[in-house]
Parts: sequence; structure tokens; C-alpha cells
Amino acid sequence: MNITIDNYRTLNFDTIDIQEEWNMTAEREKRMHSIHAYPAKFPAFITTKAIHKAEESDISVKTVADIFCGCGTVAYEAVRNGKHFWGCDINPVATLIAETKSQSYDDEILEEYYNNIISCYNTCVVNKDDEIYKNERIRYWFDDGHIDELLKLKTAICEGVNNEIYRNFFLCAFSNILKPCSRWLTKSIKPQIDPNKEPKNVLVSFKSQVKMMRNANLDNTGNTQGSADINCVNFLDVDISFSFVDLVVTSPPYVTSYEYADLHQLSTLWLGFTNDFRTLREGTIGSLYHADNFNDNINKLNETAQDIVSKMYSIDKRKTRSVAQYYIDMQTTVHKVYKMLRSNGGCLFVIGNTEYKGVKIDNAKHLTECLLKEGFINVEVDRRKISNKILTPYRDANGKFAKIKGSSRKIYSEEFVIFARKK
Ligand SMILES: C[S@@+](CC[C@H](N)C(=O)[O-])C[C@H]1O[C@@H](n2cnc3c(N)ncnc32)[C@H](O)[C@@H]1O
Repeated sequence: MNITIDNYRTLNFDTIDIQEEWNMTAEREKRMHSIHAYPAKFPAFITTKAIHKAEESDISVKTVADIFCGCGTVAYEAVRNGKHFWGCDINPVATLIAETKSQSYDDEILEEYYNNIISCYNTCVVNKDDEIYKNERIRYWFDDGHIDELLKLKTAICEGVNNEIYRNFFLCAFSNILKPCSRWLTKSIKPQIDPNKEPKNVLVSFKSQVKMMRNANLDNTGNTQGSADINCVNFLDVDISFSFVDLVVTSPPYVTSYEYADLHQLSTLWLGFTNDFRTLREGTIGSLYHADNFNDNINKLNETAQDIVSKMYSIDKRKTRSVAQYYIDMQTTVHKVYKMLRSNGGCLFVIGNTEYKGVKIDNAKHLTECLLKEGFINVEVDRRKISNKILTPYRDANGKFAKIKGSSRKIYSEEFVIFARKK
């Protein structure tokens, strides 16, 4: 549906038709997309569809960008389509995965490095003075035996692989076995201990993770290859002094839904990205902990945001502050996307609505208003089904997806695909 400034105010976004073309295709995603768990992953086929849609609309797509690139779904697909990719994410675990996915590795070299790692591991003696033993969070999540084994493995990767690109492949494998090897409650989006869990064996997990990743890498052989430039930065801080992108394809964070820094704390601590994962919450759009200048923000909010924020204020003041911050950040995001796009370029956002204690958090409407007010034209809004959540649209008290309503919280089982063009 094509939306204009005249009709977005009165439009009920929930009545927009579901467009089959944006629902999941039967085609299996490339195995590289499954090498590492990542919350709110983008459906891979959307990138190719977005590129086709842009090209059919006479946009000459040479460079694709994803400003919240997460684990690199758009990056991987853009490169596969022979495009140049530019992306960023504030989360260093995300960019490690995205960089790994965007590379093609020579399997024989992977095997050689893998053998080096295993022989280093077998002879490695752990240094009990290592800082990792002093980290309280590490001790909270892992027992002593697992800390010893993980430290041996990490040392073996760093000593056994002297090429940075290949080392990242194995560090990515290391990162994805941390949760199964810890006391972290499996599949939970809330960091919590499972008192009944038997953490998995480190070496066995690593071996099967590397095997899976090597098989996935074989899918890449013979693909048309573009190139990827992936940056670990806060998009809001990126200085965009010229237009260099033809198409932005992205899915912004949801407000107060996932705490990305908290969810990846095992990886950030083990890989040495920080000693205190909480510092990574700063700047993360949508984080409950990222909210300042409420009084200043309130005046800068657009109409849709003001409406939502005023409804929420009497219900939960703390949450309202982060929701207001989220909307300000999204307004800045749209402004920067406009600047980075070449004239006649396009952008495609995938975004969902949610609800908090009866107040509708209408992110799609807010984003549409931002696009229209920024000067984008031909704004189209479609609705799609999120296939893996159709049967489990609720979250239980532990944050796991659930089928039964009960006391669970409803999460989005549909989302919006919003396309717009720069003049
Ligand atoms: C919905 S996820 C994107 C998932 C991605 N499409 C994928 O397939 O993995 C949103 C991402 O925005 C990132 N993010 C949040 N605030 C950011 C900021 N200020 N700058 C850059 N990235 C940010 C989060 O770390 C998260 O990875």
C-alpha cells in the first residue's frame, strides 16, 4: 500500500493486507545463516527481494547497507548477489559473526588451522593467574572445570591461527558454544541460571560446531561475490558526510525487547570486548538502560511518538523514558539514512509493533511518519507473517516462546515491510 502524508494519520496499520510475497519462501536458507545464534534475525530471502524490488523501480543497486547489521544476514545475501555491502552494529559479537559470514574460507586451510588448534589445546597448560578467573560474571555462569577448558581452547585458537580472518572463524565457533557449555537457561532471552542443567563438554561442542561451520562454508563455493565492509560502531555516531548507498535494507531493534548487551555477555567477556558487559548497553537503541534527557526529548518527538509516550507515562515512567529515547533515536536514524542514500536510492525497513500493558507501541506508524517528514517519497507499507512465531506467539515468564496465552506476554507475530525512496 502506498502511504502519503495525507492518509498515514487515519490509517490503521493492523488492517493493511498481509502480502504473501513477503511471507517466508519454501527455499531453504543457506547454512551460513545458522552458524551462530542471534536474536531477531532477519529472514534471509528479504534481502534478495528488496534488491529486485529496488531494481524493478529503476534504482541501480551497487551498494547495499544495513545500519543495524546484527549477525550479517543482509551482508551475506548482498555479497551473494554481487553487491558491495556497508554495515554497522554496536554489538561486537554481532560484527564478529557478520564478518565471519561474509568471508569465503578455503576448507583445506580451515582443516590445517583446526588441527593446529587441537594440538595446541592438547599441550596447553592453563595459567591460573589469568584475569578470567577473577571475573565474577564468568564464575557465575561457569564452573571451574569449564573455565579451565574454555581458557585452554581460546589460548589454542589464538596461538594456533596466525591469520586474523581465519582466527575470527574459530573465535566465532568458540562464541557459539559458550551458552551450551555454561549454566545459562537454554533458549531463554533472559539471562538466568538453569539449576538442573549439565553444561556440555567444551571440546566435543567445539568439534561439532566447527564441523557445522565448515559444511556451511562449502555453500559459498562458486557464488557471485561482492565485498563487505562491516564496522563495530554506534550508527548514531557515524559521520555521514556524503551519499554512498543505493539501498538500505535493515531491521531496527525493538524497543525494550532484547537487551543485546546482556544476551551476549558470555561472548563479550570471553572474547575480551569488555570487562563489564553493561557498558555495551550505552548507545544501544531500544535498551531499557539507554534513556536520558527525557524533558528535551519530549519536545522533539513526532506526533505518533508523542501520542504513545503520553499514553504510557502514567503506567510506567521508567519504561516511558526509554520508549521516548527509542523514538528520538529512530528519528535520527531516518535522517541519517536519508543522508547516506544517493538520490533516487531506496530503503526497506522490517519492523514490528508491540504492546505494553494495553498501550499499543506502534513502531511502524512512527517510522512511516519519520520517513514522510524526512522527505522520502513513494512510501509503501506491507504486512508479513513471521512464520516461526505463528504457533508460539506468547512469551512465558522465563522469556521462552510459548503457545498458550495464560500469564504470557503477547509478542508480535506479524511485522511490517516499509519501502521508500529518496527523490
Ligand atoms: C533486530 S536486530 C538486527 C538483526 C539483523 N537484521 C540480523 O539478521 O542479525 C537490531 C540490531 O541493532 C543493533 N543496534 C542497536 N543499537 C544500535 C546502534 N546505536 N548502532 C548500531 N547498531 C545498533 C543491535 O545490536 C542489533 O544487532
